[in-house]
Parts: sequence; C-alpha cells; structure tokens
Amino acid sequence: MLEVQELVGGYGATPVLHQVSLTVPDSSVVALLGANGAGKSTTLRMISGLLRPTSGSVTFDGVEMTSMRPAARVQRGLCHLPEGRGVFPSLSVRENLVLFSPKGQEADSFDAAVEAFPILGERRKQLAGTLSGGEQQMLTLARAYVSRPKIVLVDEASLGLAPLIVDAIFEFLERMVAEGMSLLIVEQYVQRALAIASTVNVLHKGEIVWTGPSADLDQDMLFALYAGESVAGRTS
Ligand SMILES: Nc1ncnc2c1ncn2[C@@H]1O[C@H](COP(=O)(O)OP(=O)(O)OP(=O)(O)O)[C@@H](O)[C@H]1O
Ligand SMILES: [Mg+2]
Repeated sequence: MLEVQELVGGYGATPVLHQVSLTVPDSSVVALLGANGAGKSTTLRMISGLLRPTSGSVTFDGVEMTSMRPAARVQRGLCHLPEGRGVFPSLSVRENLVLFSPKGQEADSFDAAVEAFPILGERRKQLAGTLSGGEQQMLTLARAYVSRPKIVLVDEASLGLAPLIVDAIFEFLERMVAEGMSLLIVEQYVQRALAIASTVNVLHKGEIVWTGPSADLDQDMLFALYAGESVAGRTS
C-alpha cells in the first residue's frame, strides 16, 4: 500500500502542492485527475523521489521513503513512467526489454512482453528511437512490466496516441493489475480512467478537492474545473 501524506512543495519558493494526501491500496487502480497545471505530474515526481517535498511523507509497504533516492524506491518496487516516452533510443527493442528483466528471466520476460504487444516482437531488432510514438509507449509499458514492480505511477500513457493504440495500452494496464500490480494513473481520457480505476482523486490547484469511488464522481464538477482552468488560461 502506498500512503502519501500532506505533501507540500514545488519547484521554487511558491509551492505547487498544498498538503496532497492519497492512498493506493495493494492490487488496486487509483486515478489522479485534474486540469492542466493542477500538479498531477508534480505529485508523481514527489512519490518517486525525482522531486523532494518541503513537508509531508511518502510511505510504501510500511517503509517511509520520503528522503530515499529514486533508485532505492525502484528497488522496493515503485516504478514511475513520466510524461513522454522512456526508452533508450540507441538500443534495440529487445535490448531495452532485457535491460529491465530480472536476471536469468530475460527470455521469459521478452516472451511475455511480446505476447501482450506482438508488434514489439516484430520489431525486436529495431532501434527504440526509430519506433513510432505508439510503439515507444508500448515499449515503455512493457519495460515497466518486465521489471515486475509492485506499483506503477503512470503519467498520461495515452497522450497523443490513436484510439486503437490507447485500447491496447489500457488492456495492458489491466493485465498488470490482474497480475497483482497496483497503479496510480494520471490520464487525460476521463472515461478510460474511470473504467479502470476503483478510486478517484481530483486535484485542483495543488489541492485534493475530492476523493471517492469512481462511480460516485460528479463529472460535471470535474469538467467545470477543467473548463475554469482553460478559460482562465485564455484570458490571462
Ligand atoms: N520543472 C518545473 N519548473 C517550474 N515549474 C514547474 C515545473 N514543472 C511544473 N511546474 C509548474 O508546476 C505546476 C504544476 O505542474 P504539473 O506539471 O504538476 O501539472 P499537471 O497537473 O501534470 O499538468 P498537465 O495536465 O498539463 O500535465 C504548473 O504551474 C507548472 O507550471
Ligand atoms: Mg502532467
């Protein structure tokens, strides 16, 4: 279980997050939704350790991680997939997957990844940097999967991808959950997020303004927050 308590902090003197708290129980999917600039990516960065909070705490499986380095968090099963693609461009598809597979299980891991994304098998010798955007996103997810994390923080996995690719991405996320991994997802497609997540947290200007079961989310409230942000953005 991931427990995030009262995170405060940002990039300079002015905090972006104001006491952000949320929990992700084992084997569950939790969504973090909110308008552009609300602080969703910042929250994920603080959980994975890329950014230090000025106060608050991050606890995973009962271990306080707040001042742990990112690599130590990865070793404890916490995987962060940031916005944008995360592949080594000058390595082949297969090399990218092997690098993240547990020692001695490289072949099985590769087989499992290409069973989920057959296109990665077809392109196993191709340099990752020459894959299409959708293929790179599949490889990014497949790399996370073969490393067998306990929880994955997924930031906008579907951004800029065609609907069919997005379907494949979400099927893959469901497979990770079926195999016992937990997910904390930031997602622009609200309906897709609601379809997979059991719990939703709504972030607005760095504060969690609503938490509850996906089925109870008032979508009009959410879209009003989104619209309010974009109107403010246009007039400023
Ligand atoms: N590296 C940075 N340096 C300074 N300010 C930043 C940095 N990254 C983000 N911010 C600011 O922090 C605030 C929250 O940004 P964040 O990226 O967390 O939002 P978000 O909810 O992920 O938005 P989006 O939906 O657009 O990805 C914004 O006001 C943003 O301008
Ligand atoms: Mg973001």
